[in-house]
Amino acid sequence: MKALVCILLLLETFVFVVQQQVDGGLNENEISQQISSEDGKQNPPQTDTLRAEASTDRQQYCDLGIPDILAALRELTATVTEQKEKNRELTATVTELKGNIRELTATVTEQKEKNRELTATITEQKENIRALETQLREQQTFILEEINKKNYDREIAFSAGLRPSVGLYVGPFTTDITLTYRNVITNIGNAYNPVTGIFTAPLKGAYMFRFTVHGHGGTPANVSIIKNGEHMVIAFDVQAQDRLNSSNGVVLILEVGDVVYLRLCSGTRIADNQNNYNTFSGFLLFPLR
Ligand SMILES: *[C@@H]1O[C@H](CO)[C@@H](O)[C@H](O)[C@H]1NC(C)=O
Ligand SMILES: *[C@@H]1O[C@H](CO)[C@@H](O)[C@H](O)[C@H]1NC(C)=O
Repeated sequence: MKALVCILLLLETFVFVVQQQVDGGLNENEISQQISSEDGKQNPPQTDTLRAEASTDRQQYCDLGIPDILAALRELTATVTEQKEKNRELTATVTELKGNIRELTATVTEQKEKNRELTATITEQKENIRALETQLREQQTFILEEINKKNYDREIAFSAGLRPSVGLYVGPFTTDITLTYRNVITNIGNAYNPVTGIFTAPLKGAYMFRFTVHGHGGTPANVSIIKNGEHMVIAFDVQAQDRLNSSNGVVLILEVGDVVYLRLCSGTRIADNQNNYNTFSGFLLFPLR
């Protein structure tokens, strides 16, 4: 570095001296005097302040021999080599960083693609959920309809009064007869037939039946519940005079098509009018599998 500054100063001094010669018309002697004064041996009166400064700088830096200059050049070369090495390292670092940026860019692009895929999947899943919800709603509606249908099937209940077709009495007969309760009060599900007096089970289940008997004294009243031709329970009463009353009820397990009705025992009599003293009622408690 020092050598470089020295060379520059020498050049500057030379240019200055040449300029002085051109401007002021110095002869060769004067020039050589000038140059010798540059060596600092004397201070000629013609020198100006600038030249004095340059001279001082040169004295400071340029008391150097050729070996010093060579040493300085070696130093310079070493510095340049060092800088070149550093440049190479920097270039390598920049190249590496560029590579990293490329990788990062690629990763970001990849992630973006994945995000797009995920978004598509989510959209698809949302669509699926919507479709499932619709299906679920449809199923719920179907199930509710089925339950309503089943409940509708289960709506079985009837009540009917005897109301004789002629006069007050039914009986006495010489054989047992099936009683027809003609005055239908309720007949949900139409399982009771008021023409035949027969109830037919529309589905398997537990059924409750109840009946009342009313008659006049002097003749007994004997009425039975019959299931498929078989006596189940009897309501019986007998009074010497005035009125007589009796009742009974039973829960029966019925299969589909089983029949239930009331029979008046031979030799007995019941009495009724529009007041419905004798009634026959039944309903499904619950269905059975
Ligand atoms: C039978 O019922 C009728 C009508 O409710 C009533 O007038 C009569 O006193 C009752 N007879 C007996 C013995 O309870
Ligand atoms: C009532 O009638 C049934 C069936 O006919 C008969 O088995 C039963 O003995 C009768 N009851 C009375 C008390 O007469």
